[in-house]
Amino acid sequence: TSTTATSVSISGDISSQLHAGYSHPLTRSWQAERQLTKEMLIYPLFITDNPDEETPIPSLPNQYRRGVNRLIPFLAPLVRKGLRSVMLFGVPLHPSAKDALGTAADDPSGPVIQAIRLLRSRLPQLYITTDVCLCEYTSHGHCGILREDGTLDNAQSVDRISDVALAYAVAGAHCVAPSDMNDGRVRGIKLKLIEAGLAHRVLLMSYSAKFSGCLYGPFRDAAGSCPSFGDRRCYQLPPGGRGLARRAIQRDMNEGADIIMVKPASSYLDIIRDAKDLAQDLPVAAYQVSGEFAMIHAAAKAGVFDLKAMAFESTEGILRAGAGIVVSYFVPEFLDWL
Ligand code: PBG
Ligand code: ZN
Repeated sequence: TSTTATSVSISGDISSQLHAGYSHPLTRSWQAERQLTKEMLIYPLFITDNPDEETPIPSLPNQYRRGVNRLIPFLAPLVRKGLRSVMLFGVPLHPSAKDALGTAADDPSGPVIQAIRLLRSRLPQLYITTDVCLCEYTSHGHCGILREDGTLDNAQSVDRISDVALAYAVAGAHCVAPSDMNDGRVRGIKLKLIEAGLAHRVLLMSYSAKFSGCLYGPFRDAAGSCPSFGDRRCYQLPPGGRGLARRAIQRDMNEGADIIMVKPASSYLDIIRDAKDLAQDLPVAAYQVSGEFAMIHAAAKAGVFDLKAMAFESTEGILRAGAGIVVSYFVPEFLDWL
């Protein structure tokens, strides 16, 4: 006799009954391989050479260019809320700050080196990563040193970029992150770190799979780093170039990268997964870039969705794809939301 009389037949396939696995908020969270935590987040900061400046960046909602004097008042409350790491970008505004060699990039009195020293002494818990590139400092706005014909001189660029990375490491950066995409720069930087006796404590995070495209617009606005001629398609990857990205990831692993980064994030989730597969034993980072952030803000403003909901949904997608570290302009909000 049946004690649990039911009109539903149970003779069919029961494997299709999925709801029980996620009908409770806790069990929903169990379905994710990785939960977003504050430790995963790196917050990008734009630092100018005018110490007292604090100027909003119009195309990048809630983001500012700040001088070194503004950093501690801004960051101390965020550190109290759980901020673990920042990524520094220099934004030289003095008209004389740019030249063909990007000399200002490792100027000891320049904004990045000043900021590294200040943050290391005043906020010792904060992990300091530094973007390493020349485009903010070159008169032509490209990410390296150019030949007469306007193409990148790879050997000279690697030599210069590895000097800049070393200068940041010497100043106290925990992590150097080359975003220039010159061939062989990971090896060049690693060798200089080894030679200087810093390789055991300075991490090298390579922007290995960095794609060209239209999603860096607000950043170039913020950093004043738009190329004065041409574009970056000869050194940043073509958006369809999955094979190239895989080769770049493998190359950078072999050259000594400690972390592999993919950038942008949401249009390149397959590449993040490729990175996780190829670099199984390395942390994988993804950069939700300025254009992605600005798009989410614009759509939220237009009523397409709720900002917070989309900030979570996009970031969780990036984690699901395989990233364990996310560089994001949403970090201050996440510190409140998490
Ligand atoms: C510098 C650099 C860029 C970004 C990170 N490092 C700009 C670029 O390559 O054009 C983009 C970050 C963003 O858009 O948020 N090479
Ligand atoms: Zn650059």
